[in-house]
Amino acid sequence: MKTLDYCHNSRRTNAQAADVSLFGPEEARVARAFHQGFAQYTATPLVRLKALAEHLGLAEIQVKDESWRFGLNAFKVLGGSYAVARYLSQRLELPMREVTPDFLRSAAVREKLGDVTLVTATDGNHGRGVAWTAQQLHMKAVVFMPKGSAPVRAENIRKTGAQCTVTELNYDDTVRLAMQHAAATGGVLVQDTAWHGYEEVPLRIMQGYTTLALEADEQWQSCGVMPPTHIFLQAGVGSFAAAVLGYFASVLGDDAPQAVIVEPQAADCFYRSFRAADGHPHAVTGHMQTIMAGLACGEPSSLCWPILRDRAAGALSCADSVAANGMRILASPLPGDRPVCSGESGAAPLGALEYMMKNSEMDEARQEFGLDASSRVLLFSTEGDTSPELYREIVWYGGRGAGR
Ligand SMILES: Cc1ncc(COP(=O)(O)O)c(C=O)c1O
Repeated sequence: MKTLDYCHNSRRTNAQAADVSLFGPEEARVARAFHQGFAQYTATPLVRLKALAEHLGLAEIQVKDESWRFGLNAFKVLGGSYAVARYLSQRLELPMREVTPDFLRSAAVREKLGDVTLVTATDGNHGRGVAWTAQQLHMKAVVFMPKGSAPVRAENIRKTGAQCTVTELNYDDTVRLAMQHAAATGGVLVQDTAWHGYEEVPLRIMQGYTTLALEADEQWQSCGVMPPTHIFLQAGVGSFAAAVLGYFASVLGDDAPQAVIVEPQAADCFYRSFRAADGHPHAVTGHMQTIMAGLACGEPSSLCWPILRDRAAGALSCADSVAANGMRILASPLPGDRPVCSGESGAAPLGALEYMMKNSEMDEARQEFGLDASSRVLLFSTEGDTSPELYREIVWYGGRGAGR
């Protein structure tokens, strides 16, 4: 198996492309205003890697460092917290501008709504965000995790007071279990993937992610460089990638950056769907063994597929070593560049970019994606060291996925 495979998206179209207006700046400002109501809110840094850009023969590389998000080490909480707020605003029949975290945790709201239990399935980061939201808003949370989940991730979820169970199932089957549990117990399913008949909450989760796109857009502009020409977006079910691409497509229209989807080989459903080129999503099944736990999802979200099908430039299917190299490069940068603590799913796009720029076997892919000395690349390190032992094994000791 190759280290990195690429597939151009031949179904990309400008004519009648999927609507992205729900992820534009207006919606993003509503989401950010809610997030700003948490005492832990601060815009995460956008780190400019000038030396690395020069080293790789690119004009610009900037990395949004989500390890700083709400003290939770990953971006995911943006989605879960916002979806819960939207759900509560509907139940309370109040416009979003009146719905703040302080208001939602008030005794008056609890009296009106009674006990609310949030239910979800997660590889770790989303569940931690939902559990944290429940804790912040004085609610309960029940979280299910797939087989093989890192114990530290389950522990972090339990620390918020949530009930957390590691199942014997893969990610996609764990989602089905969470759905059944919510239906049987009257809990509120807060799932970050959509399927036909379950799209409202996942849509709000995606809108919650646009807070980081809005921040990145403003931060990029404030450093005075032309807008990014490329964004590399890691995908599990595709909610993050579709929301961020949706934001930039809303703002920049036809000038939106080329969006390259990055996935682990073990769960490369968008790569396979682009390869099939029949306009339909293609799932990966079975146990998806990869260090990129956050990306180990085999079934594209029904909300995201049309956006990525119509608007992504292509997809990269990566060996674990690609993510591991990305982690080491970000942890130990060239002189003048700042280090970024980036976990397995966070660093995959940088690892893929480095691999593409440095290997002659990628000449064709580089040309197809138009990556050259004039390219300005925006990346998102979506998590820090969410599995600290694995992080050290890879970054300190060159373990799992070392070498090429
Ligand atoms: C750190 C990290 N990055 C990226 C993703 C991918 O997000 P999505 O499943 O929306 O594609 C996840 C998903 O859990 C994640 O945890």
